[in-house]
Amino acid sequence: MYRELYQQAKAVMKFAYAPYSKFPVGAVLLTADGVMHTGVNVENASSGATICAERVACCKAISEGNKDFEAIAICSSEGLVWPCGICRQFMYEFNPEMKVIIGDDEDHLEVYELAELLPKGFSL
Ligand code: THU
Repeated sequence: MYRELYQQAKAVMKFAYAPYSKFPVGAVLLTADGVMHTGVNVENASSGATICAERVACCKAISEGNKDFEAIAICSSEGLVWPCGICRQFMYEFNPEMKVIIGDDEDHLEVYELAELLPKGFSL
């Protein structure tokens, strides 16, 4: 299953809009209902308006009524990519125990629990 998520993340990377960084990223979020939600990074000339692939996938899922996050796979044009701090906190809101899958190819995946990547994350 993790491998399938990673493969999908790699497949959607071509849809990234990354003309400034030239660093396309793809992400696939699995929710508890078994649905896979894809995301890519979407950059902007006003760089602060850029949104990461992970948050695109998460927002797509939430806006369709799926906020039980189980796992997310992330892939970049350079292979292994760690999710940024904003994305870690963003996902922590929904499930600190979700799995984060990264790797430089589908045979060398690393799986982490989100709380490992964001120890003592903020919640109200
Ligand atoms: N980026 C992501 O989409 N996800 C990450 O986990 C790290 C960074 C994007 C943001 C920006 O479009 C580009 O990668 C370079 O920072």
